[in-house]
Amino acid sequence: MARIFSGIQPSGELHIGNYLGAVKNWVQLQHTHPGSLFCVVDYHAISGNYDPAVLRARRWEMARSLLAAGLDPSKASVFMQSDVAEHTELSWIFTTLTPLGDLERQTQYKDKSAKLESIPAGILMYPVLQAADILLYRADTVPVGEDQVQHLELARDTSRKWNARFGEGFFPEPQPLLTPTRRIMGLDGQAKMSKSLGNTIGLMESDEEIWAKLRPAMTDPARVRKIDPGNPEVCNIFQLHKAFSSAAEQANVVQQCTTAGWGCMDCKKVLHTNMVQELTPIRRRAEALDAEPQRILDAMATGAQTARAIAQETMREVRERMGLETLTLPKA
Ligand code: TYM
Repeated sequence: MARIFSGIQPSGELHIGNYLGAVKNWVQLQHTHPGSLFCVVDYHAISGNYDPAVLRARRWEMARSLLAAGLDPSKASVFMQSDVAEHTELSWIFTTLTPLGDLERQTQYKDKSAKLESIPAGILMYPVLQAADILLYRADTVPVGEDQVQHLELARDTSRKWNARFGEGFFPEPQPLLTPTRRIMGLDGQAKMSKSLGNTIGLMESDEEIWAKLRPAMTDPARVRKIDPGNPEVCNIFQLHKAFSSAAEQANVVQQCTTAGWGCMDCKKVLHTNMVQELTPIRRRAEALDAEPQRILDAMATGAQTARAIAQETMREVRERMGLETLTLPKA
């Protein structure tokens, strides 16, 4: 059976972008693939400037959000990356095998570094750590959104390189597992939904807050008046309907939009109702966790313990194959 691993940055609470692109899928996969591993990648979050107090709060918030979204510690391991030291150990090993040019070609590196005067090496090395995250558990299947596909290509290259030198077939070649909602756009319809761009809808936002964001959200730019027919395929609101509304409702949206039966506001109201219906149980679970915060600590501790056992076994074999095992007397 496939070994599943994925990670998420502690960017605070979940938003509908990382939820639909990844976490919703994780929640489903934990039932079909018991023993899957899902990691809050806090070491990734320190590759740029950051405030320790903010990071601390966001790590907590992400752990809480993942459990509220439905990850169940009795089915999957949810854990903090920095609780398993082997991530950084394997990362260093992979650094020695990774050509600089491959790292400089990564789109996310180019985007991030273009905005910086002095570029921390951690931003360049980021995908190496990501390869280590996955291969530490010898995972072959990585449920992610589309923006992570290039990083996974690098993980496969790394796996091939290590295997060729130290042990054919030891590491798998991890493949991305994408959802139909692999790239959720922000409410401005211009860029990927992302906390850093401030264009998100948070999973824990109230019904009113969600509506206040949906109301002015971008639709088909060619549709100026209510009496103009719209084109659902270019409308970000329709993309969200695909995630939150039933097939029958989606068909109705297409019908109403293309015949100008509904205005954009009518369409957004239906979306709002469906979103609230899906998100309400998540908010309720978050409230229940707030009443019993120890449950979050327990879940993360159990997750880290399981992850550590797998990671230590991988590293034992990696060190041995690389000539790095604990020193023993030379053979006579
Ligand atoms: P991160 O924290 O940016 O995002 C977490 C997951 O959510 C997906 N995602 C989206 N999907 C669709 N539309 C969006 N607007 C959207 N925003 C986020 C991401 O594709 C991702 O699957 N580098 C990773 C974290 C990471 C990781 C790993 C992932 C570190 N190590 C190992 C997988 C395996 C990141 O920054 O994800």
